[in-house]
Amino acid sequence: MNPTPRQLQVFEAVARCQSYTRAARELFLTQPAVSMQIGQLETAIGLPLFEQIGKKIYLTDAGRELQVYGRRLAQLMGELEEVMEGFKGVKRGRLAISVATTANHFATRILADFSKRYSGLALRLDVTNRESLLRQLQNNECDLVIMGQPPEEEGLKAEPFLPNPLMVIASVQHPLATMRKIPLARLADETLLVRESGSGTRGAAQRFFKQHGIRIRLGMELRSSEAIKQAVEAGLGIAVVSWHTVELELQASRLAVLDVEGFPIKRHWYLAQNRDKRLAPAAKAFKDYVLKYARKYVSLPGRDEDGD
Ligand code: PGA
Repeated sequence: MNPTPRQLQVFEAVARCQSYTRAARELFLTQPAVSMQIGQLETAIGLPLFEQIGKKIYLTDAGRELQVYGRRLAQLMGELEEVMEGFKGVKRGRLAISVATTANHFATRILADFSKRYSGLALRLDVTNRESLLRQLQNNECDLVIMGQPPEEEGLKAEPFLPNPLMVIASVQHPLATMRKIPLARLADETLLVRESGSGTRGAAQRFFKQHGIRIRLGMELRSSEAIKQAVEAGLGIAVVSWHTVELELQASRLAVLDVEGFPIKRHWYLAQNRDKRLAPAAKAFKDYVLKYARKYVSLPGRDEDGD
């Protein structure tokens, strides 16, 4: 029996996705290539790892056991890589950072300055949703994650480093744009444009309205803050967004922040990592840099609407 790391990686994806097609998409492989890797792995082990019932595939008992060992092996390989990276020091190391969509408004600038300090570093930045961020942390696919809500999953830890106030925005022509102290209940008459489900901003806004007993009418769903801002500016509805995403539009008077009771929603940005992960020097240096300097990459709202 001699499974290769690649076969185990493909197996992990198929087992998690419960689908050859989805695993192939995730790994940028064709479906036949995935089937071939699994076939070779089953031959190497001498046992079937999946069984098909109807249209779905399920792990066999042997497959389930292999999944447990596969995770342990991936963890060990990751650790081995980090220890080896450690010998190279910060300057020649590798750094994989993943950030929530909204955090990209400042994370790219932080990473740009950091990489100027350590020009020999090989950097990877992934901008994705919360579900994928958690998966990457759990599977040890990245060093550090920037997210808007600390993970609750066992084995992960996070520390806050920056306020992330959420505001209600509207077009400058909106009738509420000039009103002061708008009662929260008044928003029930408005249409709220939202990000895709899985967005931390959307989740926080929906929780807030629910806590205050406001039934909000959801309008169009858009996948980026840029699209949300354009739609709000065009008068399609109002939205709850992070302050970091609208600084420029507010300065240029292209959007208005509504003075709604209870807002801003006070949140923070967190730097999260796998609890057991020994950070390589490059990741450690990046973490220290973020904790020390992140504040200088963003402005925050004025004292009267302070998000902290
Ligand atoms: P997101 O931001 O809405 O881009 O997912 C993360 C968060 O604020 O939790």
